Amino acid sequence: MKLVNEAQVEGKRVILRVDFNVPVQDGKVTDDTRIRSVLPTIRYLIDNRARIIVIAHQGRPKGQGYERAYTLTPIAYTLGKMLKKKVRLTHDVLGMQTTADVEALLPGEVLMLENLRFDAREKQNDPEFARELASLAEVYVDDAFAAAHRAHASITGITEFLPSYAGFLLYRELETFHRMLDRSERPFAAILGGSKVSDKIQVIDSLLDKVDFLLIGGAMCFTLLAAAGHPVGASLMEADWVGRAAEMLKKAADCGVELMLPSDVVVADKISKDAETAICAIDAIPHDMMGLDIGPATFERYAEVIKQSRTVFWNGPMGVFELEPFSQGTRQVAMAVAMNQKATTIIGGGDSIAAINKFGYNDLVSFISTGGGAALELLEGKTLPGISVLEES
Ligand code: 3PG
Repeated sequence: MKLVNEAQVEGKRVILRVDFNVPVQDGKVTDDTRIRSVLPTIRYLIDNRARIIVIAHQGRPKGQGYERAYTLTPIAYTLGKMLKKKVRLTHDVLGMQTTADVEALLPGEVLMLENLRFDAREKQNDPEFARELASLAEVYVDDAFAAAHRAHASITGITEFLPSYAGFLLYRELETFHRMLDRSERPFAAILGGSKVSDKIQVIDSLLDKVDFLLIGGAMCFTLLAAAGHPVGASLMEADWVGRAAEMLKKAADCGVELMLPSDVVVADKISKDAETAICAIDAIPHDMMGLDIGPATFERYAEVIKQSRTVFWNGPMGVFELEPFSQGTRQVAMAVAMNQKATTIIGGGDSIAAINKFGYNDLVSFISTGGGAALELLEGKTLPGISVLEES
């Protein structure tokens, strides 16, 4: 694929697709990782005197016009503050006013269009909508790695109408994942957490072909523990997935991968910050208690493996880390990953990023991926539509 620095952008109108689907609370961006990650591409375009039209989506509005809850206003404001530059936001996605705003853009200026998903044609990959977006610019740059699994008008359709280039973030994400999957330094440990095994079963399946160790935490461990014959008490568990989980245990054994499950857990009878907790060996979870974090013996085992690894990938928290009584497992794993400065350490997924930020280790890891679903699909071995169109163009 062609990279943005191969494009002639000086004085040209460049339409830049980014993923600014970030959490917003009370009109304020609460995690700006995705915005910060695109700054190198935006700054490059500013320095090269392009007229920049930023396009993005936020949330899942109905697609029937403006909805206040999903406006890009707080995001345009945050971007402007980071760039120390005014970022104007259009009133509508397309229309006469937007066209006039685009025409008024000077080299080095940044304009942002309102949430693309206010128009239902974005998600429908409507060719006419893609053509109208494209008609605003002369060059298309895609830096929305986190949306590369969506075949939407601003991601795939638009490439039919404009010379198309990858931004620096999208390129770096792809390069990092490909290096990790195909040329990683060994030992390679992957740590997977989160609540549902069903969301990650294909990732487990693919990673078992690549890694030396697979460390499992979060509520998803209970389906695997059940498959290994352990009682899990009242812990969250996906009974329909026990069979598939058992196949993964067998595959790990066949591939010589050490698939590690918790040997102890923190249990409580409710998910609350004032819950009474206890540490239980894995075979001793009372029938009315649920496991809400990995226990100390487990995080010590996991930390030892992380320490000796040379490539570490982490996706998904080890427990309900937002609540103090269930945060230790995630904190200890985050610390072990951050402290291993000899390894390439890659973090993916919104919750793991929130955790690494919360515990203050974000500057100590090699790479924080902005891709949630997109990164998981890449790990599953799927072809992402947003990537293939750039490779073909
Ligand atoms: C994401 O946050 O994973 C992307 O922005 C895609 O969002 P979507 O799942 O609403 O399409």
